[in-house]
Amino acid sequence: MTDMIPFIDLKAQRTRLNGKIEAAVMKVLDEGRYILGPEVIELEEKLAEFAGIGRALSCANGTDAILIPLMAWGIGPGDAVFVPSFTFAASAEVIVLTGATPVFVDVDPVTYNMSPDSLSGAIDMVKTEGKLTPRAIIAVDLFGQPANYPVLAEIANSHDLKLISDCAQGFGCTLDGKSPLHWADALTISFYPAKPLGAYGDAGAVLVKDDNLYATMKSVRVHGEGHERYEYARIGINSRLDTIQAAILLAKLSVFGDEIEMRQAVADKYAAKMGNMVKTPKVLDGYQSTWAQYTIEVNDRDAFRSHLAGHGVPTAVYYPIPLHLHEPYASYPIAPEGLAVTEAIAHTVVSLPMHPDMPDADVEQVCSAVATYSQKVLAE
Ligand SMILES: Cc1ncc(COP(=O)(O)O)c(C=O)c1O
Repeated sequence: MTDMIPFIDLKAQRTRLNGKIEAAVMKVLDEGRYILGPEVIELEEKLAEFAGIGRALSCANGTDAILIPLMAWGIGPGDAVFVPSFTFAASAEVIVLTGATPVFVDVDPVTYNMSPDSLSGAIDMVKTEGKLTPRAIIAVDLFGQPANYPVLAEIANSHDLKLISDCAQGFGCTLDGKSPLHWADALTISFYPAKPLGAYGDAGAVLVKDDNLYATMKSVRVHGEGHERYEYARIGINSRLDTIQAAILLAKLSVFGDEIEMRQAVADKYAAKMGNMVKTPKVLDGYQSTWAQYTIEVNDRDAFRSHLAGHGVPTAVYYPIPLHLHEPYASYPIAPEGLAVTEAIAHTVVSLPMHPDMPDADVEQVCSAVATYSQKVLAE
């Protein structure tokens, strides 16, 4: 049995950072300001600088990062929020937590991101039925590629809806060089360790352009606090960021731009070597993906995965079951034309190893396993 190559390799990244992370953690331990310490403030400033737009508010994880602006806007019972079904549970769960109703929308077959046509149909459906008030759209930058923000923002503006970029997987992605926040009202980030910019625990952030929204979110983040300590202006949550995580993220952010290029180089090698064998991902012209995942499509996924595993190549499936087909989400509305693309790709998508430190030998091992699988299928 061949040894498994890593799916992601955080150890290699830590070695490359050469003591920076350890020094940053030790500094926090020495100073002892463990919650919302100076590194948290510095991280917030540097995140906004990296995005080139807006102000950042850090929080405990990428799920709260979506919940906080929804709460700040007062979204709740009787409201409809539009979200793709082909995403991680967090994108929709936060809608239910506010008391609002998620309305599931289909995705584009090329980018796997929210389909503007399906979205328009869903908004019209909700308006015609008249039971819910459309309030917001949560677009997901799936696998690191930005959604079609120019068109989504046009739809949001024409219906007076808030637009969130759930950029949990895509912080650093751009359209024509610009962050999704250029079009969205809020951009939310997860620093879960496996994300392109990952902490060594849970962490998240929200970026916004509007100062009033920022102030309300800041209050929501810490129990709804008002101007004075122990004075409450609203119902909030506890979603502070640990200083140790902020210090680790600052060290990683200093090399993040280079890492996006390193991920792009891996993606380019994959596409050159296996583009004629399987359906490789397409990043649209003018778009930059952060390559949170390198996701291809194959027909007989189980056979493909076991062939690759036999050749030392781990794979993962994001996502085998669309959200609207899970029992807790099954009663919520879906777009009127159905979610045919979502339901089809859930059977064919499979993600390959991807990380910035991936050696050529590992890329080669993946590509030759894909090649021997293709030859086997052709011979059958
Ligand atoms: C699309 C998407 N949204 C939200 C989240 C939630 O982030 P976290 O795990 O940091 O709460 C994730 C994390 O996996 C995600 O992939």
